[in-house]
Amino acid sequence: MATTFFEPSVERKTGVNPLGLKGIDHIEFIVDNADQWRDFFVGKYGMAGRFYADNASGVKGRRAHVVGQGRINFVVAEPQGRGDEADFMRWHLEKHGCGVRDVAFRVKDARHALSEARRRGAKVVRELDEHASFIGGSIAAYGDTIHTFIERKPHTEFAPGYRPVAGRPEAGAIHFAMIDHIVGNVEHMDEWVKYYESVFGFDLFMHFDINTGRSALMSKVMSSTDGWVKMPINEPSSQNSQIQEFLDRYNGPGVQHIALLTPNIIDTVAAMRRMGQDFLEVPDTYYDAEFDQRIGEIKEDKEVLRRLKILVDRDHDGYLMQLFTKCVFTRPTLFFEVIQRRGRAIGFGEGNFRALFEAIEREQARRGSL
Ligand SMILES: [Fe+2]
Repeated sequence: MATTFFEPSVERKTGVNPLGLKGIDHIEFIVDNADQWRDFFVGKYGMAGRFYADNASGVKGRRAHVVGQGRINFVVAEPQGRGDEADFMRWHLEKHGCGVRDVAFRVKDARHALSEARRRGAKVVRELDEHASFIGGSIAAYGDTIHTFIERKPHTEFAPGYRPVAGRPEAGAIHFAMIDHIVGNVEHMDEWVKYYESVFGFDLFMHFDINTGRSALMSKVMSSTDGWVKMPINEPSSQNSQIQEFLDRYNGPGVQHIALLTPNIIDTVAAMRRMGQDFLEVPDTYYDAEFDQRIGEIKEDKEVLRRLKILVDRDHDGYLMQLFTKCVFTRPTLFFEVIQRRGRAIGFGEGNFRALFEAIEREQARRGSL
């Protein structure tokens, strides 16, 4: 019989914002086929093409599409031609498969953000790139992941060499507003907790110690003081943990999942299912009497949630609904989360960890990893 423990501890400090972060600017994926992954996000995630870049438009070594909805921007980039950038991207693909390279932040002042991050001990991997309407520079994060700081004039191109494309309007039943949180899997959690504290001035927002009996992890949620950027960090605490499987298959630390905030999870999940997105399987017994006891009154029709297999978790000030996609790339590494918050729910679905773990472990068992 599996057991689950979680010990949320909320420690809010009156912090500061030493790097002047304004929020998440975009997430860059290095992929094997930029067109295919643009079509994936347009077709299954209701996103629109926003920008395009290649050697001909003035960027070196890559072809890239920017797709997005609301405040979310994803860059899907593949290597093109020869040179350092193309070689690096091929090396990244060889080592990790498709995956996240960059979690980029919008900042008030990129020059200040980069020099302050350096002063606070971060390793600068890309010095300041200055243009009339765009300034950016990058630091190393866990594994081969980086954080780029971007200062951009309003109503300008995404980045130098990126051209706007006439995307279809973001119509349809899939609604996403912004990124809710980005989760990293690492070998040593506290090293990266310290990094986000000392470089970014983030607070330890919550921590969890989860043991499903067959698989275990520890997680600490790092958050900007204003709460707009939340980055949980996971560490495996058993050899057969799904976190360890990620580290083995991704060849090191990296982004495990990205949670997309929706104002309407029912319409969004229904439409994504229609468009062919697969989600983790949730046992029907999840919606038994224990569900009513744990969740209490909710606005949504429970039968609709059961039919769409949407998970629900309650915390002090509200409740959240969430569902996890299956791993999207060839390797069992990265997946997405669709999340809607009601009231002032601030959790991450701690009560659903067990359901998530059991679901992931069924997947693992099918792949023969357990
Ligand atoms: Fe999550």
